[in-house]
Amino acid sequence: MNFANRTIWTADNMEILPGIDSECVDLIYLDPPFNSNRDYAAPIGSKAAGAAFKDTWTLSDLDVAAMGRLADTHPGVYAVIEAAGKVHGKGMMSYLVMMADRLVELHRILKPSGSLYLHCDPTANSYLRLVLDGVFGLGNFMNEIVWKRRQGASSAVHKSRRYGVVTDTILFYTKSSEASFETQYTMDDPQYQDYIKRTFKYIDDNGRRYGTDNLANPALRPNLIYEYKGYPPPQKGWAISKAKMEQWDAEGRLHFPSNPTGRIRRKRFLDELKGKPVQNLWADIRMISSHSKERTGYPTQKPLALMERIIVASSNEGDVVLDPFCGCATTCIAAEKLGRRWAGIDISPNAVNQIRYRMAQTNLDIGGRTLSVHTSAPVRSDGTKMPRRQIKHTLYGQQEGDCNGCGEHFAFHMLEIDHVWPRSKGGPDTLENSQLLCRHCNSLKATGTMDDLAVKLTAWQRGGR
Ligand SMILES: C[S@@+](CC[C@H](N)C(=O)[O-])C[C@H]1O[C@@H](n2cnc3c(N)ncnc32)[C@H](O)[C@@H]1O
Ligand SMILES: [Zn+2]
Repeated sequence: MNFANRTIWTADNMEILPGIDSECVDLIYLDPPFNSNRDYAAPIGSKAAGAAFKDTWTLSDLDVAAMGRLADTHPGVYAVIEAAGKVHGKGMMSYLVMMADRLVELHRILKPSGSLYLHCDPTANSYLRLVLDGVFGLGNFMNEIVWKRRQGASSAVHKSRRYGVVTDTILFYTKSSEASFETQYTMDDPQYQDYIKRTFKYIDDNGRRYGTDNLANPALRPNLIYEYKGYPPPQKGWAISKAKMEQWDAEGRLHFPSNPTGRIRRKRFLDELKGKPVQNLWADIRMISSHSKERTGYPTQKPLALMERIIVASSNEGDVVLDPFCGCATTCIAAEKLGRRWAGIDISPNAVNQIRYRMAQTNLDIGGRTLSVHTSAPVRSDGTKMPRRQIKHTLYGQQEGDCNGCGEHFAFHMLEIDHVWPRSKGGPDTLENSQLLCRHCNSLKATGTMDDLAVKLTAWQRGGR
């Protein structure tokens, strides 16, 4: 991993993710906004850019560049986004391009044993599911978790023409079948509470509540037919040996009926009950109330209990947890509490202030010293290093002599090595981060990214040629 534990980046996450080493994160939770930082509904027109969109869409040049990349690397995702655009319009298309770009990077930095949870807005969840299927592969879809975040009693929830919305969707994917997962349990379920009331109806001398289980053997076992403390055996015998019966008796685990001809039963203690395994419907975690101690005032703040469940289920102590849209850093606080390493990214500098404040408030003050705050990407440490001459030969073969910008063919000496992710943003001198560009494309790209080059090439092609 090429970043420190307890790192917060205040930047657009797409400026940071390309700098993170591949396969170094165990768990990613993201809770992106639908429409906050870009005006998705009003992209800049670029009808001429990219044959696929000619006369059909008016997406921004950046969207078109990203779509081009997706068409090459993830044709399924490209098709999904195109279809979403037809059904839902260019605003959705632009939003999904933004998300797909980031999800591809997030998938790259996840370890093979890693998991990702995407918290969605109901407007886009059906499309995001398809995008995620394309990025992660169908077999790695684990759950659609439905989180009941409102009780529904408030009049604000009621709608005149349809049902009120009281849930969010969290899409859970793993990178492979190696992902670690630990079943969680809950007691907080009205039906389960009814069952507990019905079942655990006795109290022992120590004040422990318990229920009872049958101790009769279903099949005839003549050697297990014995009397115990004057109580008669069941017709087919007991389920356990006399030695076991004595042991459980000594441990206070036997229930003796008041009726001397009744049947001895086994005690099951309520305090030993783990609870009901958590399923994909989460109704036991409440939204933060207006007077909750947890409340920071951040409008989209999620409850710590929600993050704790996800972190405990899908990571182990010491694992690395990343939240690329961390907001007031709920994921980071929960990860700290649970002994995980963590990092968060948020475009708003407010996140850093929030996290300092919350760490102190939660008695998790890690001190200004150990919280690493950055505004630029780390330098990748995981690429293939080789001499520049060898890189150029390898790339000339890989690209078959074509410029990676304009696509034209050039002689070996006419192509130049370029950093795909710019050196100024931390791009390393590795084979993976290198490409060959013609002199013209290289000077257009300058210290920019491939997206910048795509935009400039489009403008140049429109203006000239
Ligand atoms: C829904 S909030 C996350 C709330 C968070 N789960 C919490 O409990 O506080 C979304 C966050 O994403 C941030 N954001 C939006 N676009 C971003 C981007 N491109 N890169 C990084 N952060 C971004 C916003 O500033 C906002 O804080
Ligand atoms: Zn070129």
